[in-house]
Amino acid sequence: MAHPDSRSGPPPAFHTIIEPFKIKSVEPLRMTTRSQRQAHLIAAGYNPFRLASEDVLIDLLTDSGTGAMSSEQWAGIMRGDEAYAGSSSFARFESVIRELTGYKHVIPTHQGRAAERILFAVTAGPGKVVPGNHHFDTTRANIEATGAEALDLPCAEAADASKPAPFKGNIDLARLEALLQQRSGDVPLCMMTLTDNSGGGQPVSLQNLRDARRLLNRFGVPLFIDAARFAENAMFVKLREPGQSSRTPREIAHEQFSFADGCTMSAKKDGIANIGGFLALNSDKWADSMRQLLILTEGFTTYGGLAGRDLEAIAQGLDEVLHEDYLRYRLRSAEYLGDGIRRAGMAIVEPPGGHAVYIDARATLPHIPPADLPGQALVCALYIEGGVRCVEVGTVMFGHTDAATGRQVPAVHDLVRLALPRRVYTQSHVDYVIEVAEQIARERDSIAGYRMVSEPPALRHFSAVFEPLR
Ligand code: F0G
Repeated sequence: MAHPDSRSGPPPAFHTIIEPFKIKSVEPLRMTTRSQRQAHLIAAGYNPFRLASEDVLIDLLTDSGTGAMSSEQWAGIMRGDEAYAGSSSFARFESVIRELTGYKHVIPTHQGRAAERILFAVTAGPGKVVPGNHHFDTTRANIEATGAEALDLPCAEAADASKPAPFKGNIDLARLEALLQQRSGDVPLCMMTLTDNSGGGQPVSLQNLRDARRLLNRFGVPLFIDAARFAENAMFVKLREPGQSSRTPREIAHEQFSFADGCTMSAKKDGIANIGGFLALNSDKWADSMRQLLILTEGFTTYGGLAGRDLEAIAQGLDEVLHEDYLRYRLRSAEYLGDGIRRAGMAIVEPPGGHAVYIDARATLPHIPPADLPGQALVCALYIEGGVRCVEVGTVMFGHTDAATGRQVPAVHDLVRLALPRRVYTQSHVDYVIEVAEQIARERDSIAGYRMVSEPPALRHFSAVFEPLR
């Protein structure tokens, strides 16, 4: 992949940034014809969540739990100590996370949202408000499930999807201060999500974390980090924040965690594991209550819903994810995909995120009004044309059906997320996706809108059924 001279640190000897691994074990991809894909999509009610994965050629639905493990991670799988209590795999997991984050207590969970549920069950509740740069949906849902309010305070630059800025994941400090002045007694903690997945995989600067920490200190409010993509965030800091280019991603990651009192983590992202997560924090009092809850639903404190082998894979993944060659390749892959999609004539959220490219479907298919689901139309076109699976992040996910008219009430944006699994696809796979996008862009006027035929009462995007309008 061509090297972008302006953005990266020291120039490498050669122009091409290669995948920094070789392949030892492969999984075949099953080719399908256009008419087969059309039949599969009809059978799935035009909802790619309902497709069988063997009918998908390139699966960009999510970067969560879909990464390829290294030979050292597989070795860890064999080493896993499956003891119910006091497993040596837990000891390794705990020491890796303590070293990485600096936090005293490490609580394993089966994935990120389990950590969120436990954190907010202990700290939130009716009358409370939890501010953040931009909560991920499961975080918001877990805050709201306790009766508290989840409040997004994204920075001003985040509002303009088409305009690039280096740290669009930052929190708006002025709005945070205004909230704290009014009701700091109701704020159990502030949550910073690194990177901001809901806002396009955009990073948070060290400066913003430092400033947020100072501000919260004035009001005695703890800071927590949603660390799902902490390593990608650290690499963005290295590449983009003044004065950071000579530091290692690990040093930057340490500093990120040093501003907070604890974190939740989905190890399915920057743990490069297929399952797992954790909660880590300094407070003895909170940790005690959280371990009680853990035992109730996740498992004993030294495995928390995971097998010993999973703990090994995560401990190893958390080390590998901070290798600079890996992170350089990782961010460049998303940027390369973004460059190609943009060149194909589609509008994207600028700049591309660390784990994904978000296409602005409303701008790309202007002939389809938001109520006719341009994001879903683009998602279906990507599958029919090329067997590429991705997800709508727009009216289907965040809008709702007007009870009186039956029409869709649009969300703020209609985006389509192409998320890159870690270490799974090579440059030729990405080139193929770009070609599919070019083909769709050429024929975009022929793409029709969609209608939602049926929907479940909650989280409708997972199982709703659609139909093209013509
Ligand atoms: N926080 C962030 C920022 C996330 O992106 C996710 C999951 C979670 C928390 C929850 O973690 O899935 O392990 O329970 N994001 C996935 C995605 C689902 O596709 O973006 P989990």
